[in-house]
Amino acid sequence: MEKILVIGAAGQIGSELVMALRKIHGNDNVFATDLKQAPDDVINSGPFQILDVMDDKRLIHFVIRNKITQIYHLAAVLSGNAEKLPIQAWEINMQSLMNILDLAREVDEIKKVFWPSSIAVFGPTTPRVNTPQLTVMEPNTVYGISKLAGERWCEYYNKRYGVDVRSIRYPGLISYKTEAGGGTTDYAVDIFYEAIKTGKYECFLKEDTALPMMFMDDAINATINLMEAPADKISTHSSYNVGGISFDPKQLANEIKKHIPEFEITYKPDFRQPIADSWPQSIDDSFSQTEWDCSAKFDIKKLTETMLNGVKAKFEEK
Ligand code: NAD
Ligand code: SER
Repeated sequence: MEKILVIGAAGQIGSELVMALRKIHGNDNVFATDLKQAPDDVINSGPFQILDVMDDKRLIHFVIRNKITQIYHLAAVLSGNAEKLPIQAWEINMQSLMNILDLAREVDEIKKVFWPSSIAVFGPTTPRVNTPQLTVMEPNTVYGISKLAGERWCEYYNKRYGVDVRSIRYPGLISYKTEAGGGTTDYAVDIFYEAIKTGKYECFLKEDTALPMMFMDDAINATINLMEAPADKISTHSSYNVGGISFDPKQLANEIKKHIPEFEITYKPDFRQPIADSWPQSIDDSFSQTEWDCSAKFDIKKLTETMLNGVKAKFEEK
């Protein structure tokens, strides 16, 4: 029986991943942890504890006491927030990963680790359309630099110490359960809240800034599929490209207008515009597709309908 630790369980991905993992492995076998309180369903359906991933001593006690066999390490400072405090972001993103990799190397019971990378590993010199798995990678944000360094460490720990660490370069993730965590792709979440609340949205990216995106359900399925794939199918222990769908703010706004015809969008690009300009517009994930199932079911139409319904229901609950 697996005993799974999720670090960053109160965040945008963690809060949904915990619930999906509990369905598969049983509520009591998935230990949710974070620096802050998680949503009610995470706290009420199974174990939840406040735990700082930077505190390596408490972390090792927790892992041994609970006989943990798999770790999903999701805590990080995302791209927009990282640019505000670069050194702190570097320390949190790198030290937390090193704590987890060392733990997995030292504790024999830990059989697998998941750690997410990002499209931010690519930079202005990377081909931006259908960005391949293997290509030029010169990120110019502290977040992207930390993710690229993290990928290299993951591969190193796999080759040198046999740590089975698996990773996805997530595109921008879209969901309504919790707020987005301070990234450059957050406009594609915020826009739905503002569309329903005020009927207007001022976008911090230009109208034609295309980026790869994915609805959360597809991201969770891809993550679990990767973690459940047989070890001999997994050739890459740095991180896998996953494509999702690509669109720009104008296309998303037009899709929302099909449901809310009076919706208005304006554009006021800020410090996140150059970050977005340095990232891919679309991703080639053929490499992943041949080794494990990373397919996405949500297109822009289905994603928009689901987000509008989900956000509306959240407002009605309040
Ligand atoms: P998020 O900011 O919503 O959640 C991160 C969680 O980590 C937060 O709840 C935060 O409280 C927690 N945390 C921060 N420092 C911690 C610490 N020291 N100890 C324990 N918990 C701590 O982020 P997210 O969107 O859920 O992203 C999760 C991971 O996926 C990150 O590594 C991120 O870089 C990566 N990722 C996310 C996206 C996206 O679009 N959301 C895209 C690519 C990659
Ligand atoms: N969505 C994330 C961000 O914008 C990409 O890793 O930071």
